[in-house]
Amino acid sequence: MNIICEYIKYIAKAKGRYQIHSPFVYELVDVCFSQKVAKKDKKTLARFTSTLYNDKNNYEFDTQGAGSKRKKTFAQIKQYATNARTKGKYWTLLYKISTHYKPTRILELGTNFGFGSLAFSLGHPSAEIDTVEGSNILYEINQKNFKNFSNHKIEFHRNTFDTFFDTKPQTKYDLIFIDGDHTSEKLFKHLEKAIEYAHNETLILIDDIRWSGDMYDAWEQITADKRFNLTIDLFKLGIILLKDNKEKEHFIIRY
Ligand SMILES: C[S@@+](CC[C@H](N)C(=O)[O-])C[C@H]1O[C@@H](n2cnc3c(N)ncnc32)[C@H](O)[C@@H]1O
Repeated sequence: MNIICEYIKYIAKAKGRYQIHSPFVYELVDVCFSQKVAKKDKKTLARFTSTLYNDKNNYEFDTQGAGSKRKKTFAQIKQYATNARTKGKYWTLLYKISTHYKPTRILELGTNFGFGSLAFSLGHPSAEIDTVEGSNILYEINQKNFKNFSNHKIEFHRNTFDTFFDTKPQTKYDLIFIDGDHTSEKLFKHLEKAIEYAHNETLILIDDIRWSGDMYDAWEQITADKRFNLTIDLFKLGIILLKDNKEKEHFIIRY
């Protein structure tokens, strides 16, 4: 997939706030996107990042899924973290979504170094977050690193996603972030499982919808799926709402 061509196509189709007729999407663009990251939270993110990046130990990473081209790599965190973690304006987006929608219960599939969990937690500190990661070394690094950030309600699960779902969590989540194995096959599998733990208002976020042709095909199938009343394309991230109590709609929105 040529990401520059895809971006040009996306920008040509994407709508701005005045072209939107869905109240949910209008609010997303007009109110949610306008949230600001608090100064203290910017500082926390900077401190979190530098604590990780200043760790000069070498670790043997055993990251899971299609996103990790090499299954095991011996490296420092700084050399390893840059590709898979959420950063920049998409980190800010996770923060804004959490700040604006105030989800009480969040599920993240794919913790990596915890940047997504941190965004959700800083955006809405009382959110109870379950985050699932299959890599042992990432789980251990996160256990250590998050001790410095005590004011959070993040529960780290050292599990594959399948094993996590096998434990049959006794809850419904208000927000589910699927950011794990970037193949259509695994995405569909994890999405089906996630739906069992969603209610009508749950926001389901899918990361890296343009990571490959295969992921984008999957996203197109999702947008055509009648069970999802509302789907929103934000270029890197896709948002799904199961029921918006209206006819099925799909939006490509500039972010
Ligand atoms: C793209 S990274 C997640 C980034 C993170 N959500 C963030 O916001 O920074 C994907 C992570 O999912 C993990 N993963 C992939 N497939 C998995 C599976 N089937 N079970 C458990 N973890 C998995 C990988 O080890 C990797 O750390």
